[in-house]
Amino acid sequence: MSKPLVLITGKNGQLGYELAGLFAGVPDVRVDALDRTQLDLTKLDLIRAKVRELRPALIINAAAYTAVDQAEGDAAVAMQVNGIAPALVAEEANRVGAALIHYSTDYVFPGDGKAPYRETDPVHPQNVYGRTKLAGELAIASIAKRYLILRTAWLYSNRRHNFMLTMLRLARERSELKVVNDQLGSPTWVRDVAVATRQMVQVDATEISLRIPNGIYHVTATGVTSWHGFADAIISNTSDAGRKIKQVDAISSAQYNAPAKRPAYSVLSHEKLEAAGIVTRDWQTQLADCITERATLTEEIAATPKLPPVQVFVPTFRVDECLAEIRECLERGWTGLGYKTVAFEEAWKRYTGLPHAHFLNSATVGLHLAVEVLKRKHGWADGDEVITTPLTFVSDSHTILYAKMKPVFADVDEFLCLDAADVTAKITPKTRAVLFVGMGGNPGQYDEVVKLCRERGLAIILDAAHMSGTRMRDGGQMKHVGFDADVTVFSYQALKNLPTADAGMVCFRDAADDEVARKLTWLGINKDTYARAASQGSYMWKYDVEYVGYKYHGNSIMAAIALVQLKYLDEDNARRREIASRYRAGFAPHSNIRTIPVPPSCESATHLFQIRVNNRDELMEALNQAGIFPGVHYRDNTLYRMFSYGDGTCPRARLASDEIISLPLHLRLTDADVDRVIDEVVKLAAK
Ligand SMILES: Cc1ncc(COP(=O)(O)O)c(C=O)c1O
Repeated sequence: MSKPLVLITGKNGQLGYELAGLFAGVPDVRVDALDRTQLDLTKLDLIRAKVRELRPALIINAAAYTAVDQAEGDAAVAMQVNGIAPALVAEEANRVGAALIHYSTDYVFPGDGKAPYRETDPVHPQNVYGRTKLAGELAIASIAKRYLILRTAWLYSNRRHNFMLTMLRLARERSELKVVNDQLGSPTWVRDVAVATRQMVQVDATEISLRIPNGIYHVTATGVTSWHGFADAIISNTSDAGRKIKQVDAISSAQYNAPAKRPAYSVLSHEKLEAAGIVTRDWQTQLADCITERATLTEEIAATPKLPPVQVFVPTFRVDECLAEIRECLERGWTGLGYKTVAFEEAWKRYTGLPHAHFLNSATVGLHLAVEVLKRKHGWADGDEVITTPLTFVSDSHTILYAKMKPVFADVDEFLCLDAADVTAKITPKTRAVLFVGMGGNPGQYDEVVKLCRERGLAIILDAAHMSGTRMRDGGQMKHVGFDADVTVFSYQALKNLPTADAGMVCFRDAADDEVARKLTWLGINKDTYARAASQGSYMWKYDVEYVGYKYHGNSIMAAIALVQLKYLDEDNARRREIASRYRAGFAPHSNIRTIPVPPSCESATHLFQIRVNNRDELMEALNQAGIFPGVHYRDNTLYRMFSYGDGTCPRARLASDEIISLPLHLRLTDADVDRVIDEVVKLAAK
């Protein structure tokens, strides 16, 4: 004869999960645990068919509609699951000769008691959930031939959603918590309920039966506390390293204002259970054991299922196409300067409309060349000044220093770019140039800065590291940025919106500057290797060295990748703008989450999507806990020791530096990922 079957419903709930695990370890029984997709309690035909097909000896009905607040507006479905389905389960149990164990709740009581409720005390539920559960009790008690109704309360476990897990999460996310202290009950670990259930079941070789008489039993922990006391105990029981919480504040139920009314007093008496020989443990011991168990669980089964992490940047490479371009270099035997670097320079000039383009190993070296070449050309002196923003990557100020000039910091505006008025205010007789950074692709007040540079005879250098593909209106035409700068520098570093591994481009307006830069990037040599090789044969070694130069040029492998990436740049940037619009729409109703405007006259490459919030550091940590990993671009450079001479000169940059976050923005993000980021930010940003 086959072993008798225990049929458990609600397998994915915390109680069903626990019961399924426990009964699976009982010899001489088979267990069939079904989740909602396998047995939907709103479908009566399915219940009938399933019970008749499986013919269990014991049915443990751990499925329920437990969303207490939601039930207020969803009474019909709650009644179907909690009231009507149990009636049918009871009928079907009778039909196949099965015993039935069903779970109910303290919510059947009015909750205004002063002493633990006994099973026989009058019931009077105060909300929809309680009424539907009572309907289930009444149905089973009147229909089932062999049954136990186990009323339980304040359940928690290391799985699914429950108060304990929520508190543990909030303890990592928040420094303060408010929890109600005027509802009393007995927090109960589902493990103890499952164990008590098991003790009520007699298993013989061929039979399963109930050990105790039909009826209602209260199965909760002993002892009493409030939700506030429970929260406090949860937090003080954990030595969670990432714990941020400092205090748990007590509030009243009126202050919490939940949609469904809760019983103020939910304590249940255990006399009947004890009389049946089943001992319950106090709530503190149960909690301590549950938290101890938590440390032994793998991430996979602990708490709620984890969503995949969302990173701030993930570059997308068209791998096969990149490999084909690289293969050409390898097959030809030319991976260095020339060949693909020349092809990419030509492609970049066509794409941007800029007259000159010289491919480099990074934007940093491009910025150095920009300052250096203009300095030589105009005869600027060591110690002369270049105005730039403190809210940028340190490349900008460093490269000014490489050229033995002095970075002077001007403040930023709402676009997080240089503010034209503050640039004007920072001009001194020693000012020679302005180095403007297009933050995240955004040109901000670039037009005004160019204008003032022209009026004051200052050179304009555009750090377009984030601006590959940014276009601006010039008269009636949209043009790629850089057309009006003395020199524009792009980055194709690994995480930029035109990623390679490391590369950059310097685009001088004047041919003579471009020519000097080309020599400087190849140790001052006046013929590059490619030109020498192309000239074939004699005299190719007879080059001259005109300057003390640098090894700054790019190589064909990087250029090969860049050639492919460039083909997709406009398409990629369009998707970036789409993601940015989704973020903007998501944050629009929330004035505590401020987005960065983009001037209407531009089409930004949207390398970054930045927001400003009042609890930046906390929010970053909380987002990390939620599997979201944003960035910060950038820290006010005057906070760095070597630029501390500028401390206090740019208060808006300092404030922004404490408030900005760059949210995930890349081509692998789905709209659902973006919505997840929006939801978490809305949930966690300080109001
Ligand atoms: C604004 C800005 N300028 C310059 C650079 C330097 O670029 P690269 O890494 O190509 O030298 C970066 C890189 O992050 C940047 O963000």
